[in-house]
Amino acid sequence: MDMGVFIPIGNNGWLISKSSPQYMPTFELNKQVVQTAEKYGLEFALSMVKLRGFGGETEFWDHNLESFTLMSALAAVTSKIKLFASTAILTLPPAIVARMASTISDVAPGRFGVNIVTGWAPNEYTQMGVWPGDEYFGHRYEYASEYVQVMKELWETGTSDFKGEHFQMDDCKLSPAPKGEIEIVAAGQSDKGMAFSSNYANYSFVLGSGINKPTDFAPVASRLAEAAEKTGRDVGAYVLFMVIADETDEKAQAKWTSYREGADMEALSYMGVQGAADTAAGDDSTAKVMTVPEGAVNFNMGTLVGSYESVAKMLDEAAAVPGVKGIMMTFDDFIIGIEDFGTKIQPLMASRADVQIAAE
Ligand SMILES: Cc1cc2nc3c(=O)[nH]c(=O)nc-3n(C[C@H](O)[C@H](O)[C@H](O)COP(=O)(O)O)c2cc1C
Repeated sequence: MDMGVFIPIGNNGWLISKSSPQYMPTFELNKQVVQTAEKYGLEFALSMVKLRGFGGETEFWDHNLESFTLMSALAAVTSKIKLFASTAILTLPPAIVARMASTISDVAPGRFGVNIVTGWAPNEYTQMGVWPGDEYFGHRYEYASEYVQVMKELWETGTSDFKGEHFQMDDCKLSPAPKGEIEIVAAGQSDKGMAFSSNYANYSFVLGSGINKPTDFAPVASRLAEAAEKTGRDVGAYVLFMVIADETDEKAQAKWTSYREGADMEALSYMGVQGAADTAAGDDSTAKVMTVPEGAVNFNMGTLVGSYESVAKMLDEAAAVPGVKGIMMTFDDFIIGIEDFGTKIQPLMASRADVQIAAE
């Protein structure tokens, strides 16, 4: 069972609140988080791509670093942990991303991968003139499929003559070849998203919801397993949780209550409007979930709130759900959170009993 961290590439992480820790994203912050994660034996770190924030009093996500350049720098200051950067596929041609990935794999052989982001918030793209129109929502996974095929051809053969509806290569070249496999991850929750993952991804993120409901995502994981059965490929489910832990359940709950009470409603309603843009979204898609601002201070992300013991137990329960290959975490405070995970939570987890911690 892999553990990973969804690193804070945007300000304030994943809490849209005036009373949660307020911080800017910096290389130093992310370096500390990833190096600490590596020290405690975590297997991977992922950074998202977000190109426009939600505003509000907290200026939520108005401040975001760029995913590939950040991961390239982190590759140079780590030695074991796997690193995933995210490509917003409307903004970067696949042959360029293939080359960026190949370059980063030279820095971090065998431990770099790419997260494929089709995009759900049109304003990120209209602001730079690359939004193809709302009909894109209907064919974004076809676009993503061609995109990944081009990259894979370049990585595997050094040449692509791919001729698709969206991308046409003409004796396109890539050299040097990547060092080791570039793994693909994706996070589509819709049926089309899962079909895409089943065809092209090594791992696919599944989302839970609710507070202290560590196995609620099981039906989503089984939808992914069903989709993967159709292609016969091995696609592991990675589940995402926010962890809010403290010495006692009461102390952790008090933090969570205060974050909720401090909800930045202005930023939340902006997010709701953007999420509503995809009229083709199914009820279980992230876009639909995003349209419910009440209480969405944590993106409606599955959240584990409790003592170190309680959180360890819930993470073990999540790890035992069929199909789960890994858990990725966010924290309210990433510096304290990752350290507490390494020293106080992980040692209590049966599913992490075999983890090797590097000597100081
Ligand atoms: C772990 C994880 C990472 C994601 N990373 C990004 C990202 O970097 N940028 C982004 O715009 N959306 C991101 N998303 C949203 C997904 O790419 C996807 O659009 C969303 O899960 C909705 O799935 P659907 O499009 O199949 O409905 C992420 C979602 C998850 C769960």
